[in-house]
Amino acid sequence: MDMIFRQLNPNACRTYLVGAKGSNGIVLIDPVLEHVAEYMELLDREQLRLTQVIDTHTHADHISGGPALIDLTGCEYLMHSSAPSQCVTSRLTDGFEFQIGSIPIKVMDTPGHSKDSISLIFPDRILTGDVLFLDDGGAGRDDLPGGNAEEHWDSLQRILGLPDHLVVYPAHDYRDRQPSSLGEQKKNNPHLKPQTKSEYVEYVGELMLGPADWMKDIVQANYACARDPNAAWVPLDAAACEVLGTSDRGANDQQVAEISADELKRLLDGGRAPVLLDVRESEELHGELGHLSGINHLPVGALSEHLSDLERHKEKQIVTICRTGGRSHTAAQILMQAGFDQVHSLQGGMRAWIQAGHPVDY
Ligand SMILES: [Fe+2]
Repeated sequence: MDMIFRQLNPNACRTYLVGAKGSNGIVLIDPVLEHVAEYMELLDREQLRLTQVIDTHTHADHISGGPALIDLTGCEYLMHSSAPSQCVTSRLTDGFEFQIGSIPIKVMDTPGHSKDSISLIFPDRILTGDVLFLDDGGAGRDDLPGGNAEEHWDSLQRILGLPDHLVVYPAHDYRDRQPSSLGEQKKNNPHLKPQTKSEYVEYVGELMLGPADWMKDIVQANYACARDPNAAWVPLDAAACEVLGTSDRGANDQQVAEISADELKRLLDGGRAPVLLDVRESEELHGELGHLSGINHLPVGALSEHLSDLERHKEKQIVTICRTGGRSHTAAQILMQAGFDQVHSLQGGMRAWIQAGHPVDY
């Protein structure tokens, strides 16, 4: 039996309509509340009957259309057994197999981005939710409620063990990347490159931004089965689930100038001190790496919301600082997008600073 498979949304959130030709039962995967009226119109127009909604995980960037679609169509609402949502009608566990028409689908637990993340394996494709994105999009972030980088690595190892021919369809894409085979992803996706669990945890840890408050609100709205699109505020086009997500669209493409630890030390010693902006989390400032004397502090996840605090430094040189240079790079991009034009990221972060033997406060 032939498969019907369509992606329905115009933006970064991907909603897949799946059905089997000759059977009028349709499944929507990861529907978005805002678009429910359009989905209903489409189902009506094509005389399709919605039988099931599946959410691959509790979303933090949009309110699920699942609960509203239960009301409108009487469909089932399926999520992982650990999903906190109150209105799930049927719960999925690892290895569970079911069919849409005659199309077999297998559930695989892939926690990491969230506790309740699943992937759906079809004979020719895999819907990965946010556990794996496409190409340099990497994978979903692990710093939202329920996220865990170690579990994410375990999940990616399971995905690496699947056949190369499966075409990867993620729940998000922020740059119009096209689905391609798992074999391609194994070559091109940085999250699938061979690395140990601890290397992965370190790599992802460096990219963690901390969830913005609006994301926590959306998670809560999804736990509570919100049917009102205004139940939580969603910023337009935020690349929320991507690892480098809370920066503005396009910010990730910008070139960032770096400054070495020695150059920065010379500036400080020469009385030409730039504004030092440490973008790590508060507890890290007093951890083993300490911090530079005289820093301003703003975690990178809060930067976009607090740019006005830095307005007085707009004409000055700013050096962004983190642990090894990942978050400071993102922070520099966010500042450049906002019109700060003398921004440098400290190359290698606090680690390089200490390695060079320069002084630190604790
Ligand atoms: Fe997500």
